[in-house]
Amino acid sequence: LEVLVLAGGLSHERDVSLRSGRRVADALEDAGASATVHDVDGDLLAAIDARRPDVVWPLLHGSTGEDGSIRDLLELLGVPAVGTGAAGSRISWSKPVSKTILARAGVATPASVTLPESIFREVGARAVLDRVVDRLGLPLVVKPAKGGSALGVSLVTTAEGLPKAMVSCFSYGDVALIERAVTGVELGVSVVDLGDGPRALPPVEILVEDGLYDYDARYNAGRTEFFVPARLGTSVLDAARQVAVTAHQVLGLRGLSRTDLIVDADGTPWFLEVNSAPGMTETSLFPLAAEADGLALPELYRGIAEHAAR
Ligand code: DAL
Ligand code: MG
Repeated sequence: LEVLVLAGGLSHERDVSLRSGRRVADALEDAGASATVHDVDGDLLAAIDARRPDVVWPLLHGSTGEDGSIRDLLELLGVPAVGTGAAGSRISWSKPVSKTILARAGVATPASVTLPESIFREVGARAVLDRVVDRLGLPLVVKPAKGGSALGVSLVTTAEGLPKAMVSCFSYGDVALIERAVTGVELGVSVVDLGDGPRALPPVEILVEDGLYDYDARYNAGRTEFFVPARLGTSVLDAARQVAVTAHQVLGLRGLSRTDLIVDADGTPWFLEVNSAPGMTETSLFPLAAEADGLALPELYRGIAEHAAR
């Protein structure tokens, strides 16, 4: 089995993607497959032509990867690829769109407003932000409508903190999602789907020293403590797994995904977002959940690649 792993690219999550790509390629090699990591640049078509892989595994996080554009290209070329197609990637990549679809499927997701940067030129920042606080209250979470690895994300506890959070958010994209902050236990629920229906892996509980699961806490070992399965009752864990499976189904995800949630004090899982190309680094949640489920990563990744190659 010849797998061409696509990693890197030019998104803000380039470094994370290279780490994910190397880990997956190493595991595939351990399972007897032949895997090459290609740092995506202008030579992509040449690399596909030269290698003629059985399957391509796009491990590109962020824009050009999870936004569907690389998928459009692979679909046009007729190259088999691991994971979600162009349309599913695109709707999953937009947090406002995926939240709306999940809400219609009956899943709780925090109240929010979506604001393009341009509105501040038309109306004035003060007036807009005052209306947001009136409508959603405090605390709030400000995040780029499209983004990953918590880049540009801020927790805002006072109205005075909002302008700075908006500036930080708009440095990563021109549309902001402002959500009511839900207090509770943060979970990542991974899903594997090898054609026999999506199956949720054990939910991973994320406990960060100082509260914010930011870029540093995600990728520097030791800053975050993980509990697999999460320290919650069985019915709550089942409800969280069901949200991840529902997200996988209604957003048209394929192969693998990870849904991020917060479970509140009442045991309600609140959908935050879904990742069509979840991180696969040494501190990422998908591999952690798979191993906790008794799966060996080399065999699992080979199975995912073989399924997509068919
Ligand atoms: N966006 C990163 C890679 C993740 O969700 O794991
Ligand atoms: Mg994400």
